[in-house]
Amino acid sequence: MKKRVILDVDTGSDDAVAIMYAILSGEFDVKGIMVSFGNQALGYTLLNTLKIRELLKSEVKIYKGAAGPLVADLMPGFKENTKVISLEGGRDGREIAIHEKIFELPDPRKREEPVSAVPWLIKTLTEAEEPVTLIPVGPLTNLALALKAEPRIGEKIEEIVCMGGGVFVNNITPCAEINFYNDPEAAKIVLHSELPIRLITLDATHNSWFGYEEVEKMKKIGNPAADFAAYLLKNRIDAANALGVRQVKKSALHDVLAVAAVSHPEVITRMEAQDCDIDVGTGYARGGLFVDRRPSAEKGRLVQIAYEADKEMLCGLLLEALGKYPGEGL
Ligand code: RIB
Ligand code: CA
Repeated sequence: MKKRVILDVDTGSDDAVAIMYAILSGEFDVKGIMVSFGNQALGYTLLNTLKIRELLKSEVKIYKGAAGPLVADLMPGFKENTKVISLEGGRDGREIAIHEKIFELPDPRKREEPVSAVPWLIKTLTEAEEPVTLIPVGPLTNLALALKAEPRIGEKIEEIVCMGGGVFVNNITPCAEINFYNDPEAAKIVLHSELPIRLITLDATHNSWFGYEEVEKMKKIGNPAADFAAYLLKNRIDAANALGVRQVKKSALHDVLAVAAVSHPEVITRMEAQDCDIDVGTGYARGGLFVDRRPSAEKGRLVQIAYEADKEMLCGLLLEALGKYPGEGL
């Protein structure tokens, strides 16, 4: 039976590839896609999500969610830290971005649903006959709001498989990964919900990099979805190197690992159940995920934390899914 899932995205280059896998693989009954701010402002992340749905010729419903974090913008001195931080810049008079503001794809013919993401999520879970797996791969704002407004939805959540945090690897600050940093209070609410959670951290996603070799494999498939995935991956690698984010000729497609971990849990090759928390202070470590590795660590509220992944398997799953594109092209 197909896994019932709801995605929560901030599309974003790797979110786009995650949506492609979720829709094309045939592994999922996707109940809906919620969108929040994150990689870009909400208007852009929503538009990009609509464009990807169109590209995939999918009928999945899309719901507009949070335009900003729960409280971070209200904290003195923190506006700067919580405005959209996308990895972008310029070189030789050309704009470069890991997450382009607007995907170069045709304008969508269909818009998002008239109801917004949080009330939709509450209603959908409340009425669900079977539990649903949530796959948030952006800031956790929508989910935190829903859990606060109606905690009983927890009874219908099979599991939360979330791309977020890093234990030994971080990106936006020395201590924090960007999804958690974009709304640390929301991440804390979700982590403290006592629901079953698998965290697909940067440690695991950086352990399953894709390079130019994978770009070529995607191109060889030869359909519009695979071509666009190849374009996004190539752009990620080129941009990261040009911006000096890293000097390796590869890029992690973080969000697709979270979706693949739901259809194929064995793609995560090292997972540990650990006590952890998020820093919501206003200092250097804000938004950081911290794991208690002391032998005396609490064994009560444990979260499954992914550290390593099988890159070959992830790549194989993604290529296979891209090969299932249903049409003749745009
Ligand atoms: O840190 C990786 C995460 O932040 C991914 O979800 C990606 O989309 C980025 O914004
Ligand atoms: Ca994302």
